[in-house]
Amino acid sequence: MKRTTHALRALAAALALALTASPALAQDKVKVGLMLPYTGTYAALGNAITNGFKLAIAEQGGKLGGRDIDYVTVDDESEPAKAPENVNKLIKRDNVDVIVGTVHSGVAMAMAKAAKDNNALLLIPNAGEDSITGPMCAPNIIRTSFTNSAAGVAMGKVAADKGYKTAVTLTWKYAAGEQSTGGFKEAFEKGGGKVVKELTLPFPQVEFQPLLTEIAALNPDVVYAFFAGGGAVKFVKDYAAAGLNKTIPLVGPGFLTDGTLEAQGEAAQGMLTTLHYGEGVNNPKNTAFRAAYTKAYKVEPDVYAVQGYDAAQLLIAGANAVKGDLGKRADVVKAMETAKLDSPRGPLALTKAHAPIHDIYLRKVEGKENKVIGVAVKNITDPPRGCKL
Ligand code: PHB
Repeated sequence: MKRTTHALRALAAALALALTASPALAQDKVKVGLMLPYTGTYAALGNAITNGFKLAIAEQGGKLGGRDIDYVTVDDESEPAKAPENVNKLIKRDNVDVIVGTVHSGVAMAMAKAAKDNNALLLIPNAGEDSITGPMCAPNIIRTSFTNSAAGVAMGKVAADKGYKTAVTLTWKYAAGEQSTGGFKEAFEKGGGKVVKELTLPFPQVEFQPLLTEIAALNPDVVYAFFAGGGAVKFVKDYAAAGLNKTIPLVGPGFLTDGTLEAQGEAAQGMLTTLHYGEGVNNPKNTAFRAAYTKAYKVEPDVYAVQGYDAAQLLIAGANAVKGDLGKRADVVKAMETAKLDSPRGPLALTKAHAPIHDIYLRKVEGKENKVIGVAVKNITDPPRGCKL
């Protein structure tokens, strides 16, 4: 009897050792942490990113590099103050293999810092904070979306080429808006225009009336505004309700009218925006993506859905290269760095600083569509901004 107990104990110990020695055996699901906004003004963006991500995974039979997936989901509420705790929980308590997030640049900065401190793999499916692919860059941080200033630069050039001489910029006062309007100002003034006033209000406030009164008084040739999600819906409607769209064209990065046209309706008609996507991008991948997404979720995809889909496409490329063993980090990153993705937006590759290289389209709102009417900047490459990798 005593001998049997002893043998059983030895067997249990050997088994425990085997399991710790082989993490893939101990836990054969890949843990993916989704840290995104599911409440607040950016809630629709977080949901679209999640849907796009899961669609790409579904196309792989629900697997990542041959392994099943366990999702750990966190609502970051677009709240920078809560970000360090949220992301550290994912890294230290939930032990996720990869973090996907987020939308808000302020939250993303905290995530990038935590990812750097803990060498955690971070894929950014939206937040365009310039410095993350600049001085904050890291081998373990990769962005599949855009850089904040890029769409602004593209629109600044378009506005100057149209012959507008004066502009007012307007945004929530935080990194994304400031970098977007900053890009616009740089290119608009380079093209001979002048930004006569830079207006802001705190994120995520939507009390636009005093600002609209000020814009009417300033009477510039054009207004460039950065808002997204619920805030963008309200701003575009308020701008039209004040009658300003009849006299002063409202332009912006495509976030102003992406995923929002159903709600903005008449108010958005004719608006010009610049973005790395548009419903009508004409390639077979976009056609297939739009059909699959609409079938799966019964709603039309937007730019955020595309970015979520591409984050998963990139992760799939990395995971396939190591047959799902994400512990082989250097090989995973190398495969992602060299991937040439067939994105619904068009071809997508990465700069050395892990920022996307893609085209920025000029779009015009027609009905419920951001119609692609041209390419504003071809193959835009984010400058390294001091990134040393
Ligand atoms: C950002 O905070 O970086 C951000 C948020 C929403 C957008 C674009 C950029 O649509």
